[in-house]
Amino acid sequence: MRMRATAIAHPNLALVKYWGKRDIRLNLPAAGSLSVTLSGLRTQTSVAFIPGQARDAVILNGRAVWGPKLDRIVRFLDHLRRLAGTDLRATVNTENDFPTAAGLASSSSGFAALAAAGAAALGLELTAPELSVLARLGSGSAARSIHGGFVEMLPGVMPDGSDSHAVPVAYENHWDLRCLILLTAKGEKSIGSTEAMNHTASSSPYYRAWVESVPHDLALAREAIRNRDMKTLAVVAERSCLRMHASAAAADPGILFWNGTTIELIHHIRKLRSDGFPVFFTIDAGPHVKVFCSASEMSAVTQSIRSVFSGDIIVARPGPGVYLKDEPERR
Ligand code: PMV
Repeated sequence: MRMRATAIAHPNLALVKYWGKRDIRLNLPAAGSLSVTLSGLRTQTSVAFIPGQARDAVILNGRAVWGPKLDRIVRFLDHLRRLAGTDLRATVNTENDFPTAAGLASSSSGFAALAAAGAAALGLELTAPELSVLARLGSGSAARSIHGGFVEMLPGVMPDGSDSHAVPVAYENHWDLRCLILLTAKGEKSIGSTEAMNHTASSSPYYRAWVESVPHDLALAREAIRNRDMKTLAVVAERSCLRMHASAAAADPGILFWNGTTIELIHHIRKLRSDGFPVFFTIDAGPHVKVFCSASEMSAVTQSIRSVFSGDIIVARPGPGVYLKDEPERR
């Protein structure tokens, strides 16, 4: 057993959203989802299991983590310890090169990197589905960052969640898309995605309709990706995003993630598309707008966005799945 390991993972953005759980404790999704793993943003996590250490310690971007955030990571480390049959405590050191907990999917890369580094440190030889199941216990979307490129999350039917994991749909070089991440606000988001989706599930009259709409969108998105069909993907991805947000907005009290700039950008992207640009937006549990377009259109799309938006833009593209720092990338 090597006791320590470092892994690198990239966050992913869902084109068909995950919003709602069939089992809260095991983080089992109520429906499937489909995402793109993005290079351009990365999380690097080192885990060391240290004999004699009294309790788990977590350092995020150079600062000690406390309270509910630490508890969540300790619970995840407990899963790892149970799998490996050890009670050793760990020190976790994790760095994001992008804003954390701001609606930029840091939990997806965070728990994917922690799963891979923790499993390697404890000598657990997990298959890709097993690693994805493990990452899912930390955060539902993390299950998808195990793979690179275009990835589908299978909701599964088993009560223990053993069939609820991600599978690759297409490798990262299948389609040369670009994603412009438009940061419309600073700071951390006001409500976490788990709390927000559970509140939606328990109080939104639109929640059932949302969940029932997902399988059809998944089938269309899968096919659109295989055919590199931007037109269809644009329609499906925007629809999925707006339906997810509509279900949350209809909760009691309603949850609104958007600010004024978010809405202005939605209108701008839709106008661009009606002017003939193959471009679409998606938005997660925060106010930032993520814009997808082909690589060849990126500079024209950026220029147009700059006429209405002066904030920070991060440029990302389909990227690889999680990998250990001293080992080759997983495909
Ligand atoms: O994995 P979580 O619990 O952070 O939930 C992710 C929820 C969304 O980002 C809004 C949608 C998704 O599919 O990633």
